[in-house]
Amino acid sequence: MRPYIYITRKLPDAVINEMQQKFDVGMWDYEDVPVPKEVLLLEARKADALMTMLSDAIDETVLTAGDNLKVIANLAVGFDNIDVKTACREGIAICNTPDVLTDTTADLTFGLLMAAARRIVEAAEVVKEGNWKSWSPLLLAGHDIHHKTIGIVGMGKIGEAVARRATGFEMNILYHNRTRKPEVEQQLGAVYASFEELVGKSDYIVCLTPLTEETKNMFTREVFNQMKRSAIFINASRGPVVDEQALYEALVAGEISGAGLDVFEKEPINADHPLLQLPNVVALPHIGSSSVETRTAMMQLCIDNIESVLEGNKPKTLVNKEWKPLVRV
Ligand code: DGY
Repeated sequence: MRPYIYITRKLPDAVINEMQQKFDVGMWDYEDVPVPKEVLLLEARKADALMTMLSDAIDETVLTAGDNLKVIANLAVGFDNIDVKTACREGIAICNTPDVLTDTTADLTFGLLMAAARRIVEAAEVVKEGNWKSWSPLLLAGHDIHHKTIGIVGMGKIGEAVARRATGFEMNILYHNRTRKPEVEQQLGAVYASFEELVGKSDYIVCLTPLTEETKNMFTREVFNQMKRSAIFINASRGPVVDEQALYEALVAGEISGAGLDVFEKEPINADHPLLQLPNVVALPHIGSSSVETRTAMMQLCIDNIESVLEGNKPKTLVNKEWKPLVRV
C-alpha cells in the first residue's frame, strides 16, 4: 500500500501531481477556509504524513489520532502551532521551511517599516478616494528612515537579512537576541543591546522573535511606554508576542508614533478591531513569506521533507533534532 499524505489547504495542481507520483494524496478543498478540526482528526487517523499550515493547531489529539503518522511538514518557518514535545514522544518528525523564505520575509518586513514610516498606505488611500486637494508643505509628512536607528528583536536569519537591508539606508543597527552574533556585529556593524536599551534608543523597533513561553506578551504597555514618542513598532513574527490592548493604548496616548503589523493575536483579525481604526497602523494579512517564488519553494521543501522521512531518511529541515522514528510493535 502506498503511503497516504493529507494536505490541510488546497495547493496548486502541479504540487499535488508531483506528490501523486509516489503517494496517495488527500487534500482539503479550499484555499481560503481552514480545515475543520473534525476533518483533520479523521485524516490524521489514517495519514502517514501531514502537510500543515500555520493556522492549523497540531495538538496532542491530532498527533495521537492514528498509528501511522510519521512526519508533519509545516508550511512556515514558525512552528508554534505544533505541540513539538508530544510529537517527539510519538516519534513524529516535525519539519519547517527555514532559509527559503528568509529574504522574502525580510523584504516584506522592511517594506512594512517603510510603509509605516512614510505613511504610504494612508497616502495611497488619500489619492484613490479623491481626497488629494492640493500639494501642501506637510501633506502626509512621515518620518525619515535613513540614518535612523533600527532595533531588531530576534536576530535569526530573517533579522540578519533585515539588518542587511538597513545598511543600505545607512541606519544604526541595534539588536537583541538570546545569544550574541559576533559575525553579524562584524559584517553589518550591528550592536548588541539589552532589551530595555534597544527599546529606549530605537526609532524603529522590529520584532522578529519566534513565539515561545518566554516571548509571549513581551511587548507590554510598560515596554511601549519606554519607547521614543516618535518610535514605530513593526511586528512580522507572531501576534501573541504583543499585548495588543497595550499597543492600542500606547498608540492612542501618543506614547509611540505608529505601527506596522503583519501578524495578530487572532488571525484573521476582525475588521472592527480597535487597532484597525487607527490611521497610523499599517496592517497586513500575515504575508511575510508570500511571494509566488518563495511559497512555491516552501511547498517543494515540504514535499522533500515528507519524502525523506517516508523513505527512511533524515529530512532537510527538521525542527525536533532529537527525533527518532518510533518502532511500533
Ligand atoms: C512563517 O513562515 O513562519 C512566516 O510567518 C510566514 O510569513
